[in-house]
Amino acid sequence: MNYTLDKILINGEKIQQRIREMGAQITRDYAGKQPIAVCTLRGAIPFYADLIRVMDLPVTVDTITVSSYGSGTTSGNLKIITDMRSDVKGRDVIIVDDIVDTGRTSLAMVNMLKERGARSVTICALLDKPSRRVVDIEGDYVGFTIPDEFVVGYGLDWDEKYRNLPHVYTLKSCE
Ligand code: IMP
Ligand code: MG
Repeated sequence: MNYTLDKILINGEKIQQRIREMGAQITRDYAGKQPIAVCTLRGAIPFYADLIRVMDLPVTVDTITVSSYGSGTTSGNLKIITDMRSDVKGRDVIIVDDIVDTGRTSLAMVNMLKERGARSVTICALLDKPSRRVVDIEGDYVGFTIPDEFVVGYGLDWDEKYRNLPHVYTLKSCE
């Protein structure tokens, strides 16, 4: 099946406005702390870049590339393709992700970071598709809750395309 852009689901301006609110909330919640904000590559790149600039905190910037596999949610089901640079022991970690879908990746990452001794771990996701959830996990900071539709743009891809678009779009099939 081939897909093409359908319509804008979330406008870029609206995304920026929401990110400012999320940044303000995180700034309040982490006042006096020096959290590690870890960008989950590659889907969270635009979101991460915009979010850290509205976090008024001495934040440590880091990245990770993972993929979850199988139906499990333990760190054993998490394939770390490129690991973080920081030692998370005793640190407050904010996982910045593009979307919480089934929740498997988020849960496996939280478990992995806790096993490594992080003091606290939260999930900050631009998008949330709660109707798709198969494990018990919630984003601590969520930009937008969306219906069960495949979306692209603003970091999210289909077949490695559309990540660089400024808006979030739905897709439609084409011949
Ligand atoms: P999980 O199912 O919550 O483990 O999500 C795994 C990953 O699937 C997300 O981080 C995204 O990279 C990808 N994903 C889930 N839903 C979508 C979507 O609608 N568009 C693009 N990527 C998605
Ligand atoms: Mg992802």
